[in-house]
Amino acid sequence: MAVRRLAPEAVQPKDFVFTQSMEDWAKAQIAKYPEGRQMSAVVPLLWHVQGECGGWLPKAAIEAVAERLAMPYMRVLEVATFYTMFNLEPVGRYFIQCCGTTPCALRGANDLMAFLGERVGPQKTVSADGNFSWLEVECMGACCNAPMVQINNDYYEDLTPETLGKVMDDLAATNEAKAGSQIGRSGSEPFEAVTTLQDATLFDGSRIGAWRQRFEEEAKAAEAKAAEAKAQAEKTSTDARVAEGDTRPAKPDAGRPIERPVTNAEGQRAASGQEPTRPDARAGASSTDKATVAKNDTREESRPSPQSDKSFVGTPVKPEDDRPVAEAKGDTTKEAGTPPSAEPPRRDGSESKPSTGGTYEKPSETGEK
Ligand code: FES
Repeated sequence: MAVRRLAPEAVQPKDFVFTQSMEDWAKAQIAKYPEGRQMSAVVPLLWHVQGECGGWLPKAAIEAVAERLAMPYMRVLEVATFYTMFNLEPVGRYFIQCCGTTPCALRGANDLMAFLGERVGPQKTVSADGNFSWLEVECMGACCNAPMVQINNDYYEDLTPETLGKVMDDLAATNEAKAGSQIGRSGSEPFEAVTTLQDATLFDGSRIGAWRQRFEEEAKAAEAKAAEAKAQAEKTSTDARVAEGDTRPAKPDAGRPIERPVTNAEGQRAASGQEPTRPDARAGASSTDKATVAKNDTREESRPSPQSDKSFVGTPVKPEDDRPVAEAKGDTTKEAGTPPSAEPPRRDGSESKPSTGGTYEKPSETGEK
């Protein structure tokens, strides 16, 4: 950090006066701040005055700013000497700030400063023609395009002593020079082989909203992967069971006899030797052959026919008449209370139809029936 002092008295102007245009500009700036906070305009006023004074701040200009803002002179001097953006000594028409921080130093900043020393002279001195002065400064944030200099308000990057000399020649001759990279870079891309940011879709706007599609595709891929992992786990489990000789179907009940509990509560009670709960069921339920006891379905078993006499319970149509209604009408409706086995044979023609429940006669092996 260089010591920042005011310029010698010999170079200081005797006075400084706000012109009308400067006064108008200062008035507009000060009006931006709330009442009682006008001194906050000190930095913009000093910056503007520096431009009007040829790029540096004379002592008289600092005092004029302090008076305009009703601030103690020392307070304004503190600001002017703190920020390096304010020059306290005369500078050339083109003030060159050369970055000497590590990235620029590694890329040739020392060569640039040596060149400036030869062409302009020591730092803080103005060239004989008044065009140039230079100063070494810290990083100015263009490290990717090192080495670089700032001349007045523009950056000049990717410099060599030769290209810097050309820039200075152009400025001295025409007041114009090509700013930015001196080797044709449009930004901070690699200057040799450009291998990134080559996709044109990055710059034509077609990628707007692409992030949503990418997220959806990633979610679908994750779901598919999880489903595949689950299927693989199930297959591995099945393979392991087969390898162990366990060939049971996946569903435990499939293809095998099922043992179920007795559903006839009275029969169940009878089977266990208990007394039936309903009096009218005691006679039949006392026999275990009427209970639906859980059996293996593959076992041959003789079961009572649901049409047997024991299971038939006749009910008169009108019990209060003490006779079946069918008889009174003379039709063929069976008499209430008649067991199915006592019904007369049918004579309505249906008796000649093949019985779907008839006995199946297995044909002999010789083909005879
Ligand atoms: Fe020179 Fe950053 S190091 S601009």
